[in-house]
Amino acid sequence: MNLMKKKQQSEAEYSGPLIQLIDIHKVYYMGNSEIYANHGINLEINEGEFVAIIGKSGSGKSTIMNIIGALDVPTSGQYILKGKDVSKMNDNELATIRNKMIGFIFQQYNLLPKERLINNVALPLLYSGMGKEERNKRAMEALKKVDIDDKYRNFPNQMSGGQQQRGAVARALVTNPSLILADEPTGALDSRTSVEILNFLKQLNREGNTIVLITHDRSVAEEANRIVSIQDGTITFDGTVDEYRKQVAG
Ligand SMILES: Nc1ncnc2c1ncn2[C@@H]1O[C@H](COP(=O)(O)OP(=O)(O)O)[C@@H](O)[C@H]1O
Ligand SMILES: [Mg+2]
Repeated sequence: MNLMKKKQQSEAEYSGPLIQLIDIHKVYYMGNSEIYANHGINLEINEGEFVAIIGKSGSGKSTIMNIIGALDVPTSGQYILKGKDVSKMNDNELATIRNKMIGFIFQQYNLLPKERLINNVALPLLYSGMGKEERNKRAMEALKKVDIDDKYRNFPNQMSGGQQQRGAVARALVTNPSLILADEPTGALDSRTSVEILNFLKQLNREGNTIVLITHDRSVAEEANRIVSIQDGTITFDGTVDEYRKQVAG
């Protein structure tokens, strides 16, 4: 068996949790003061879950999302993603993990203004050296999933906010990532368009995608299947939506 095949097989056979955060601490140093943005976070997320991480402003959501998204590494503790220890990776290794394993959706869509929608969606495939025809084919498939393939030639400023965010969802999907990470994905949208985007995320989850959604909004979090609540850098609740509702009420 050649090495490549062996590697693919061992990845396919990995059966542990998709995400393991083990006693994660993140400290920011500002002059003489230390800010404990994450303080002993332990969390496991399995493949196929739809988890919302909810917390007030300043509670440490972006810090943990940056770690989960391989945008930053913890000060101490371990982050294991699909069996790989990400916590000690260098910038190049982190960039590879981000490109191959994670699809990002941000509040502000982050589409390139001078590129047509199809090129924006195909962009993450460029780094893998895929040919243009195949990139475009996959981009169109991703656009179809969020029902916006008819706008493939539009520039971002020729689309509504909701349409741009659907484009961003397509871009997050196009590499077939292990994890879709959405940071306040409905934060800039009106309530009707928010429902539409959340429905697409739910649909993608039903199709087997793992989704982690960061929000400060309870009604958004309750669209997930599991809610993790964070306060002062620590997890204070982890359970189902029903359990969360009971806890909030009582
Ligand atoms: N780069 C940074 N440098 C210093 N302090 C930071 C930095 N990023 C975040 N913080 C601080 O860490 C804490 C958690 O912030 P953050 O993770 O952004 O929370 P949230 O996303 O929930 O609003 C806050 O007190 C914030 O001011
Ligand atoms: Mg934040």
